[in-house]
Amino acid sequence: MPFPKLFSAGKIGKMKIKNRLVMPPMVRNYADVKGLVTKRYIDHISSIAKGGVGMMVLEASFIEQAGRGFKNQLGVHSDTIIPGLSLLVEAAHKHKAVIGPQLYHAGRQTLKAITGVQPVAPSAIPDPLEQEMPHALTVGEIKDIVKKFADAARRAKTAGCDFVELHGAHGYLINQFLSPFSNTRTDEYGGTQEKRNRFMLEVYAAVRAAVGDDFPVTIRLSADEMVEGGLGVKDMVKVAKVIAKAGVDAISVTAGVYGSYTKGYMIAPMFMSDGLLLKYAKAVKRAVKVPVIAVGKLRTPQICEKLIKEKIADFAAIGRPLLADPEWPNKAKKGQAALINKCVACNQGCIQRLFSGEDVLCTVNPTCGREGEFAKLLGAKKKVLIVGGGPAGLSAAKVAAERGHKVTLYEASRKLGGQLWAASALPHRESWNDLTRSLVADVKRLKVKILIGKKFVPNMIKKGEYDAAIIAMGSTALTPILPGVIHDNVILARDYNEGKAKAKGRVIVLGGGCQGAQTAEALALQKHKVTVVEMTDAVAIDAPLEDRAMLLERLSKLGVNIVTNTKVKSIGATSVVVEGKTGESAIPGDTVVICMGAFSNDGINREVKQLVGNVAVVGDALHPRRITDAVAEGALAALAL
Ligand SMILES: Cc1cc2nc3c(=O)[nH]c(=O)nc-3n(C[C@H](O)[C@H](O)[C@H](O)COP(=O)(O)O)c2cc1C
Ligand code: SF4
Repeated sequence: MPFPKLFSAGKIGKMKIKNRLVMPPMVRNYADVKGLVTKRYIDHISSIAKGGVGMMVLEASFIEQAGRGFKNQLGVHSDTIIPGLSLLVEAAHKHKAVIGPQLYHAGRQTLKAITGVQPVAPSAIPDPLEQEMPHALTVGEIKDIVKKFADAARRAKTAGCDFVELHGAHGYLINQFLSPFSNTRTDEYGGTQEKRNRFMLEVYAAVRAAVGDDFPVTIRLSADEMVEGGLGVKDMVKVAKVIAKAGVDAISVTAGVYGSYTKGYMIAPMFMSDGLLLKYAKAVKRAVKVPVIAVGKLRTPQICEKLIKEKIADFAAIGRPLLADPEWPNKAKKGQAALINKCVACNQGCIQRLFSGEDVLCTVNPTCGREGEFAKLLGAKKKVLIVGGGPAGLSAAKVAAERGHKVTLYEASRKLGGQLWAASALPHRESWNDLTRSLVADVKRLKVKILIGKKFVPNMIKKGEYDAAIIAMGSTALTPILPGVIHDNVILARDYNEGKAKAKGRVIVLGGGCQGAQTAEALALQKHKVTVVEMTDAVAIDAPLEDRAMLLERLSKLGVNIVTNTKVKSIGATSVVVEGKTGESAIPGDTVVICMGAFSNDGINREVKQLVGNVAVVGDALHPRRITDAVAEGALAALAL
């Protein structure tokens, strides 16, 4: 067997686990507004269970309405949850995975708009991210919440769950009590670490009493809060020892709170390295005797095997990797690790959507959250023409071929991947290559007929030759109509990033969206003196929260000059004339790099429609957007065939 440690059986308390792979909790926003389980949720959990993971921790599930953090989060707040929860249990047990919810109260890390009431906390100190003043809990209210944790645990056990996890991490209520960053109480729940531990210990004791000694109760802790005035790893290791001594059956080790979210440790973006939290798991593992669960960009079976072999932790949790490929465990076990569709840590499809109040999807796996739709039975097999081999076209070709259609794909350039190449050429964005590699390998494996270096023109095909066509011809970078734009010193960001154009001397980037800001970083790393000119009041606003914060920090360190609320009037040989709030001025620069959006390549659609009955236009060819949209749209068009 390729990964013998990873696929050896494990144990938490008396609970046997078939391997060392854990699905960590992830809020999906797939529940209904009452927090109840939906068919979509069951389909999603079934697909992950089927993929071979050993232990499944259901998302942070609110124990009372006031402690809810997301609109369509799962609840364990009422007995009405029990029937739905049992269906999730059934889905996991069918594939011999153990399952249980993460019991959670958001405390101050939520909003009145979500809970309907003022957030609560140990002390009246607003969370730095949410910025809403919480109500400091009275002792009576604390006791009531402790009881609600116990009620929730009882419901989980009644529904047939195998364990419960207490959410003691990420700055939510239990964590808030633990930390002087959020707890300045002077009663028995604050003042010293011992007193700050009291709430966690009371919750644990009440939950233990509700479920009995044999039922595993685990806890998740942030081993370092990463905020000034908060708990660091030495403090948290002591907390871990206290809760282990109290009787908890395992400790899941993560890091960060909302106040440090943008440092990129909690849900690490592409910029951060794989296994970034292992040092924390190791620190806790050295201090306690109970099993430890490690997490954080453990994207490959190799890294998971190694951490277990080296006794850094007893279990490896893979969160986003399971959204990207629920079959990750089965593929690893069967020696097909190279076929794993790797999470690229873009954070765009999953956590960025969740924080915007949307449901969780995955950029590299359009099936995630749409498992029911993708289970749709195949109708008649069709001859399908796909024009364009970028992310939308490749995704369409993959799904169409998987579903048994006969697929022909035309790509005008000499390589497949489209804009993924420019995206992966940007600093710290090379993980996009994982998606390109995976899509290309899939279409080849699925025997899609690929006509590369062949520009498609409609008269290449006869009427009726194809049953359906998917146009995925991408977009062309926009060149604005500006005086001086045709000068030799003006280039397109896409061309620069693909190595087709060079910059000289001082550079002015026109357009400060995410791509413009990332291009500015690439240029600054090449020692150019860079200015970014942006029309709106902020740059890179389309990037995920943590990605943006880290990018801006890097740009600032590189000395990139960012000019917002400013329009370009004209381009000269050594400067650009701009108009800002204080009037017109000239910014010196030798090269101008344009990154001001794109327009769709949709010129052939009408002609193709006359030759092929059923035509869909997807991705940038429909409307220039992000890779997440391109991959999803391509796949959905193929599904609709
Ligand atoms: C969409 C999403 C939702 C999450 N929700 C939770 C949660 O409910 N509880 C929790 O403890 N961690 C949550 N996390 C953090 C994950 O459990 C995990 O620690 C993190 O994603 C890092 O692991 P990974 O690199 O394997 O994804 C969430 C992460 C994501 C991406
Ligand atoms: S959306 Fe991006 S970060 Fe999230 S699971 Fe998918 S690939 Fe990973």
